[in-house]
Amino acid sequence: MAARSFSLAPSLSLTVMAAPERDPTPCCLIVDDEAPLRAVLRRILEQQGFTCRDAASGVEAVALLEQHAAALVLTDYHMPEMDGVELLRTIRERWPDTAVVMVTGVSDVDLAVQCLGNGAMDYVTKPFRVDEIRGRVGQALEKRQLLLENKAHREHLEARVQQQARAYEELFLASLQSLADALEVKDPYTWGHSLRVGQYAMAIARELDLDEVRLAQLELGSRLHDIGKIGVREAVLNKDGALTPEEYRHVMEHPVIGWRILSPLLRDAPHALAVVRSHHERIDGRGAPDGLSGDQIPIEARIAAVADSFDAMTSGRPYRAGMAVEDAMAELERCIGTQFDAECVAAFARALEAKAFPLPDSRVRRPAVRAVRVVA
Ligand SMILES: [Fe+2]
Repeated sequence: MAARSFSLAPSLSLTVMAAPERDPTPCCLIVDDEAPLRAVLRRILEQQGFTCRDAASGVEAVALLEQHAAALVLTDYHMPEMDGVELLRTIRERWPDTAVVMVTGVSDVDLAVQCLGNGAMDYVTKPFRVDEIRGRVGQALEKRQLLLENKAHREHLEARVQQQARAYEELFLASLQSLADALEVKDPYTWGHSLRVGQYAMAIARELDLDEVRLAQLELGSRLHDIGKIGVREAVLNKDGALTPEEYRHVMEHPVIGWRILSPLLRDAPHALAVVRSHHERIDGRGAPDGLSGDQIPIEARIAAVADSFDAMTSGRPYRAGMAVEDAMAELERCIGTQFDAECVAAFARALEAKAFPLPDSRVRRPAVRAVRVVA
């Protein structure tokens, strides 16, 4: 899954990219150390509608290209300082959209063919005819145009595939959010709870330097961690009095129920699934559902356990106000080594000190529904 927070607004709009337009007066750079030859070539190409510049060496040609890119470079092979082969290599590296046509003597045809293998579009042998120059240059520009169009189409296609993938991911996450919304209707206690747990968990994870992939999955897992309560009987979920042992066991099935619901959907998000399944594990091994202890509990779940408990303690109920932040923090620290991981609690304390998240308002009384977590 991509390393980014989830957005719940599906977006299916696709951007249409235009193909590159043909330049009616393409710029051509003529490179030859013989001035008369440059003048002849310049005249031929200007008659054909080109805008021409010329250079007496490869070094001069590079300097001109740095000022203005050219659609086509027509270059001699034998030149001082930088020969045609080296100029070709430089152009391929720095201006890959520029077409290069080599001008060589008959004795250098082998070399010219080699240049084709290194990215030259074509070659012309001296002495050349006017119509030959026009034909080769025209073909080279035609081929360059096709390559540019091909490149634009490929980029367009890649962008569309990425947009489609993003749109599907957003739709997928929106459907998961619908599940979470359904739970909030059934169990009003979870109203805002999952969101706050996500905020606290992310603050802890940032203190612990978790990577972006884990951060994104931790946020997702936190938002969905109690989704399994959908499978818990409402009479039990909303019971005012103490739970019987059977009812408690039933409520505590929610991590596994949630994990079963989400496993087929979150195959690519194992860290999010770990939060859902293991957020009620305890560091001393006395938690549920698997009785994992210490480092056996995935770090994301150890983080979520701290965040979940803090929110449970600081959330008000109709019959009592929420616990003060300092008292809840003291309770977390008291349970280090039994219920909570020491590093996660310390990271939470640092995030609290740094005001990394909005503090809960303990005066707000939430609906009279049982919080499953009970701090030992
Ligand atoms: Fe839970």
